[in-house]
Amino acid sequence: MKVLHLAAEVFPLVKTGGLADVVAALPPALAAQGADVRLLLPGHPAVLDGVKHAKTVATLGPAFGAARSTLLLGRMPKTDLPVYVIDAPFHYRREGGPYQAPGGSEWPDNLQRYAFLGWVAAHLASGELDDKWAPELVHAHDWHAAMACAYLAAHPPTAAASVFTVHNLAYQGVFPHDDARLLGLPARFMQPEALEFHGQICFMKAGLKFADRVSTVSPTYAREIATPEFGAGLDGVIRGRNGAVSGILNGIDDQVWNPATDSALGSRYRADALAGKAANKAALQAEAGLAPRPEAPVLTVVSRLSSQKGLDLVLAVLPELLRHGAQLVVQGTGDPSLESAFAIAAHAHPGAVALHVGYDESRAHRLIAGADIILVPSRFEPCGLTQLYGLRYGTVPVVRRVGGLADTVADGETGFAFGEATPFALQAALERALQAYADAPRWQALQQAGMAQNLGWAGPARAYLALYDEACRARRDSPRQAPSL
Ligand code: ADP
Ligand code: GLC
Repeated sequence: MKVLHLAAEVFPLVKTGGLADVVAALPPALAAQGADVRLLLPGHPAVLDGVKHAKTVATLGPAFGAARSTLLLGRMPKTDLPVYVIDAPFHYRREGGPYQAPGGSEWPDNLQRYAFLGWVAAHLASGELDDKWAPELVHAHDWHAAMACAYLAAHPPTAAASVFTVHNLAYQGVFPHDDARLLGLPARFMQPEALEFHGQICFMKAGLKFADRVSTVSPTYAREIATPEFGAGLDGVIRGRNGAVSGILNGIDDQVWNPATDSALGSRYRADALAGKAANKAALQAEAGLAPRPEAPVLTVVSRLSSQKGLDLVLAVLPELLRHGAQLVVQGTGDPSLESAFAIAAHAHPGAVALHVGYDESRAHRLIAGADIILVPSRFEPCGLTQLYGLRYGTVPVVRRVGGLADTVADGETGFAFGEATPFALQAALERALQAYADAPRWQALQQAGMAQNLGWAGPARAYLALYDEACRARRDSPRQAPSL
């Protein structure tokens, strides 16, 4: 099957979170099982620099306010996966993040930038842009890519079916209703049964309403988002799609996250030879300025600092953790109030609490390899990858029992889980973890059980291929359409 994946970010070129890791690893895993897979990305400077052997396949537009743009076809670095890149200098060749300007404000033209991405996917599917290749199925990731599903639904002759994956329902791509005319879609798409959302336009709804199948990144999150507590206002829309919504757990990329081969580490190790992990711990204590105490449990957080991640709970239990002789090393960026709260804690407890504000990929590997425990106390978590990296690295996860965290960490067997999002509940789970840590054989059994877990992409890739078949059948039998006016 010919499959086109489109997304705003991909590791190692552009990454703000786990989405980039998934978009880098899932397509090659599908290709390994025989699918003919290509990627479609916006031409951010790092993408234009990183993609190999790029050649022009089509001239686009003018469209979405860009006077001149071209569609390139090249190869991803490392995996060699074929990748289309939209080189639209006016929209994408800028410094800053994919969604935000350097100061942290959203790019004011995100509607045009991401509608364009979806529009190109639909036109590739109609065979207009590359006469040598057209997808039979378009797989769109998160709101940035969701408009592809609406453009496909608006062009009935297009054969391609669509799958939309929700990586995080909290980010929805909501824009003023007045800007709907910039989308080039018929008026019937602007009704509440389509893209209209409380007087605005919601890109996430384009995926939820018009994809032939909707998936999310864990079975538990798939159930949670049908409830008002986790549905971020879209739970009714999710319930409306009923049997068309499912959850497929993310995997991890063994080429990138493997303690036996990880080039970011001073010492490599495996489940049956954990001595190298102790060397990584000593190196981390030295690098982070923590006291060189091999017996101290070292806890780590590697995370976006946002309210989603529940890190205020970590701050609340910190005095108790320190009383137990534990050390904490945090790496993250985001919410300035969380950054400064952790900075104050690090300043108040030199040698016991360390903070690195910033985004640093290889340092993230050293933190996850060197720590004993990784904390992921999220308020909600669609899947979560850092607890999976923890499992792979013998770094025992302590997590809140939500979303993908609930589906991947077995309480008392591979990690520790708590229910209520309260400091009290987190503290109780941490006390159980620290007790286990004090019992060396028990701890090693926990580490080895986590490291033995099969976390690769082969299983999830098979599940996506089955979902693609379902989506193609659904497209044939009852294509999604906007209701008439
Ligand atoms: P989310 O996508 O919600 O941020 P995930 O756990 O799915 O959460 O993925 C986060 C990804 O981003 C992981 O690969 C993690 O290692 C990485 N990451 C988060 N913060 C940092 C940071 N400050 N430095 C390096 N990597 C980070
Ligand atoms: C989102 C979610 C995270 C998930 C990631 C990749 O960013 O917040 O839980 O692991 O996407 O699917």
